[in-house]
Amino acid sequence: MAIERVAVVGCGTMGNGIAQVAATTGHHVTLVDLDEGRLAAATAGIEKSLTRVAKKGKIDESVIPEILGRIKTTTKLSDCGDVDLAVEAVSETLGVKQAVFAELDKVVPAGKILASNTSSISITQLAAGTSRPDRFIGMHFMNPVPVMKLVEVIRGLDTSDETTNEVNALAETMGKIAVPANDYPGFVSNRILMPMINEAIVCLQEGVASRESIDDIMKLGMAHPMGPLALGDLIGLDVCLSIMEVLHRDLGDSKYRPSPLLRKMVAAGHLGRKTGRGFYEYE
Ligand code: CAA
Repeated sequence: MAIERVAVVGCGTMGNGIAQVAATTGHHVTLVDLDEGRLAAATAGIEKSLTRVAKKGKIDESVIPEILGRIKTTTKLSDCGDVDLAVEAVSETLGVKQAVFAELDKVVPAGKILASNTSSISITQLAAGTSRPDRFIGMHFMNPVPVMKLVEVIRGLDTSDETTNEVNALAETMGKIAVPANDYPGFVSNRILMPMINEAIVCLQEGVASRESIDDIMKLGMAHPMGPLALGDLIGLDVCLSIMEVLHRDLGDSKYRPSPLLRKMVAAGHLGRKTGRGFYEYE
């Protein structure tokens, strides 16, 4: 059955991007966050991003009100009773995600799909806390969601073929390419990306090169669209630290040890673009 109504829980960078793309591609979206102020900021942010997409000529500016009209915002998870799929994009903390799914499991009708946009937490473990592990799946979007083509689709141990097929089809109708990965810490994307960002931070910490040199070397030498330190700032250094901690703890290998400088940046509240300061400064 085609997925038409989507709930997005959490209106951070990822939640907003998922809501924007889902609404742009014709889905009815319920965007949920506990904080009214964040929801208001989300709507403004989505409008700004859609204007940017329109300026590039990818959509007509006249359709923006229609797209925004498909996004309903609410502070209550209980408003998700009519959705075909709910995707969670709250903070990268196991307990917070489990609490959200315990509520969603009560509200979202039996047989409908629960998905997590987690960057690294076990899909099988999150699914086990619900009454529908067969209808539970990882749907991992990349930042910035309106631009990046990939959705990493992660099956938990009990995820059904039907659920996987429906989610692959949803990703396709959202203009994305679904690529499967198995349920291991960090899946594929962050198992490979995060150690690279962490190592760039170790290089900075050890004085191997300046922040600009580290990023320029990776951009000019490896054709990366942005350097690893700038990318860490884009993703959020708190998110990077959470992912490294999951890799370190769950794979048990010292090669995944988070850099002390990364820990220090997070402790200082310098989380990257979202706080105006990370390895670089932002307006
Ligand atoms: N909304 C809409 N469109 C946006 C956008 C946004 N928020 N951000 C950028 N764009 C569009 C621009 O309009 C532009 O479109 P055109 O190509 O049609 O001109 C295009 O993206 C490129 O943008 P810019 O020219 O402004 O800037 P850029 O060329 O420097 O690209 C970038 C910016 C797309 C972020 C690019 O640097 C890039 O691809 N960086 C790497 C991003 C990446 O690795 N993401 C994955 C992070 S890991 C993750 O998300 C998963 C996790 O679990 C941590």
